[in-house]
Amino acid sequence: MSLNQQVIKVGLLGMGTVGRGTYRMLTDNAEYIARRIGAKVEIKKILVRDTTKDRGIQVDPAILTSSIDEILNDPDINIVIEVMGGVDLALDYMRRALKNGQNVVTANKDVMALHSKELFDLALTNNCNILFGASVAGAIPIIRTLRKSLASDRVESISGIINGTTNYILTKMTNEGADFNEVLKEAQAKGYAEADPTADVEGHDAARKIAILASVAFNTHVTADDVYVEGITKISAEDIAYVKELGYIIKLLGIAKFRPEGIEVRVHPTLVPQKHLMASVGGVFNAVFVKGSATGDMMFYGQGAGELPTASAVVADIMDISGDILRNVPKITGCVNYTDKPVLPIGESESRFYIKILIDDKPGVLASIAMVFGNEGVSLATVIQQDAKKPTDDTTELIFITHTAREKHLQNVLHCIKQLSGVKDIASMIRVER
Ligand SMILES: NC(=O)c1ccc[n+]([C@@H]2O[C@H](COP(=O)([O-])OP(=O)(O)OC[C@H]3O[C@@H](n4cnc5c(N)ncnc54)[C@H](OP(=O)(O)O)[C@@H]3O)[C@@H](O)[C@H]2O)c1
Repeated sequence: MSLNQQVIKVGLLGMGTVGRGTYRMLTDNAEYIARRIGAKVEIKKILVRDTTKDRGIQVDPAILTSSIDEILNDPDINIVIEVMGGVDLALDYMRRALKNGQNVVTANKDVMALHSKELFDLALTNNCNILFGASVAGAIPIIRTLRKSLASDRVESISGIINGTTNYILTKMTNEGADFNEVLKEAQAKGYAEADPTADVEGHDAARKIAILASVAFNTHVTADDVYVEGITKISAEDIAYVKELGYIIKLLGIAKFRPEGIEVRVHPTLVPQKHLMASVGGVFNAVFVKGSATGDMMFYGQGAGELPTASAVVADIMDISGDILRNVPKITGCVNYTDKPVLPIGESESRFYIKILIDDKPGVLASIAMVFGNEGVSLATVIQQDAKKPTDDTTELIFITHTAREKHLQNVLHCIKQLSGVKDIASMIRVER
């Protein structure tokens, strides 16, 4: 039999946004895909809840099913594509597929950010594979790049704009001086934000993605529960305008850094210099910035979600696994032989800090605050007294930007400053990246 007569049979779990895109790409590009991998990819069954629903696309009704057993009990199905979402059921189906020796392709960040270790081990034990390129940053091939192209290098840090909703909101707030709640409502009306936006605006979605990226980049296991998270709900239009004048823009970043004693992994609003490449990533776009010890700085930019962008990553993973099946090579997830590295508590992380403090407009307060920074060994790069913007006649604002300091020292500084006479409020504290 020639290669082109061979058939790889796949079962699709879910026919929503990503499932429809995957179906479209596998059917519209069928010939192209067959030529590239040397075999035809055939969708044998599609699992949905409701087989009668209009899906806005022509699908042979005979391949739709609401019974998972028709896919997991079919020995002809080589690859199970999980694009249904959720955690418990999706995890159960992926476990069962791997135990059957069926390969898995998934776009599910919620499962991969919590259970990847178990799934990799299952794949290894059962000589099959699990790939998850679509689980982070949609069309951007960052997971494959970390697993393959950068396999020889030691990644020092990885940071990214990996949530389109919050990037859309912050971009609008920056460009139009608008308020968070106003922009959130507009984003919901346009379909860029969910009716319940909590996972996005509180940073949990980005936390899942940075956990996955940190695990692959540093060949360890980081879960979403290990990630320190702060969302964007407390960022004001005023903060944005202030930092703009200082040459910065605020972005919600997922950040993971390798340090010999452990890994820093966090999500929070971050001041990024306006001249940094990440500052130009606007709207719903995503970008991931990688620093490798041999490769140096690299940035990957593109669409982080959507039907076809996400499906492109799913289909690339299907083609990868198909190639392995056809060549009969042992399946390697690229995520084995890991060593567990500790995740550092947030107090041990290192950063620069932007701090805005409201004080009584009287002599001596600035000097006493500066002394507290000195006592904790946190050195100051910038000090600005905003007399032109006094909130009231007897109140003035001080802006500090520190040099790199350990978070626990900065927290001590803030704690002591709050007790000083003449200090009214610590109005903001935002971490700064170069
Ligand atoms: N949307 C994106 O841009 C994007 C980007 C990256 C990653 N992802 C991830 O991709 C996955 C899918 O997202 P999506 O946006 O495509 O979801 P979606 O539009 O809600 O589609 C989910 C599909 O799964 C089916 N399904 C759900 N629960 C089921 C169950 N218990 N039994 C049978 N079928 C079930 C649904 O069937 P019915 O149609 O019959 O209800 C539907 O077809 C998620 O893990 C998501 O995080 C999505």
